[in-house]
Amino acid sequence: MRDFTVLGLETSCDETAAAVVHGRAPGPGTILSNIVFSQLEEHAAFGGVVPEIAARAHVEALDSIIEAALTDAAVSPTGIDAVAATAGPGLIGGVMVGLTTAKALALAWEKPLVAINHLEAHALTVRLTGGVGFPYLLLLISGGHCQLLGVHELGQYELYGTTVDDAVGEAFDKVAKLLDLPYPGGPNLELLARKGNPKAFGLPRPMLGREGANFSFSGLKTAVRQIVRAPDFCMSSKADLAASFQASVIASVTDRVAVAMDMFRANGAPGDPALVVAGGVAANGAIRAALSQLANAKGFQIEIPPPQLCTDNAAMIAWAGVEYAQRRRFDDLGIGPRARWPLANTQRRSLESAD
Ligand code: KG4
Ligand code: ZN
Repeated sequence: MRDFTVLGLETSCDETAAAVVHGRAPGPGTILSNIVFSQLEEHAAFGGVVPEIAARAHVEALDSIIEAALTDAAVSPTGIDAVAATAGPGLIGGVMVGLTTAKALALAWEKPLVAINHLEAHALTVRLTGGVGFPYLLLLISGGHCQLLGVHELGQYELYGTTVDDAVGEAFDKVAKLLDLPYPGGPNLELLARKGNPKAFGLPRPMLGREGANFSFSGLKTAVRQIVRAPDFCMSSKADLAASFQASVIASVTDRVAVAMDMFRANGAPGDPALVVAGGVAANGAIRAALSQLANAKGFQIEIPPPQLCTDNAAMIAWAGVEYAQRRRFDDLGIGPRARWPLANTQRRSLESAD
């Protein structure tokens, strides 16, 4: 099997990103360039991502970001083996911009196209960074997603648990807003929580001890809202509330992961399996530490990509492109963007390539 060099594009949310990655499965691969333009400033005034603004910003930024990615990698279009782009799930306007651009490049450069599931790219990032072999247990925690999956093979994912309401990153962002923290909420809430007492407020610990590995965070968010809106609440105790909220999230997440670890083992997982944590919330130091401790206690290896590869980026899209290109799994130019695209049954429209 030979190495592949893939240009990846990511435009599904509020990061416009392009990257060139070189390598072969199971990794690790080499990131030749990784350009991420965050639209934070465009959305900050609205306290969240505005889809129409995001799509326009992608259009404005993408061409020069692609050029920068090729220049940084010192690769010309002839040196690219395939063009990969996020085809979903995500904000449809943004996904259309990236996917259409990738199709145009594939057509102009006469290179194959790989349409990537954004969640799958998060799931495979540890192969790019650490060459982790299948199977592994994946905890995917981001602003839009909160899932526990068995990753058995490329394209074979088994869902153990998902959120019944908010994603964990969404809960962080909403609670941060209640506490008047600047956007984006998650990282700012973590910083504030470091200064607070996690035992100061008795908050609910959602789903603790429940059968199955599902998550729920809306009750916890409501409990925080009630405390903040109470007449006797003083904003000077907001660090304590942030710390207490984060402690509840950690208790809930570690409980759910412990259940999924047992499910994964019952399904015939290897003796020394890996727990992989991916998605933006994996950048949270307190959550990382708690999961490391749990993994240790349960006999799992823990694998967490570096923070800049946990949040949205195009290196992960390019890497997923490498994995599919190597297996000659390409997509035809008729493939459409998808706002929703669950990972557990990743259906691909694939073409076998000629060579
Ligand atoms: O994966 P990502 O960049 O975008 C998607 O949602 O796909 O994740 C962004 C989410 C946001 O909700 C953000 O607040 C959260 O990840 N996040 C964090 C931290 N850093 C990012 N949440 C808690 N603690 C953090 N340090
Ligand atoms: Zn993401």
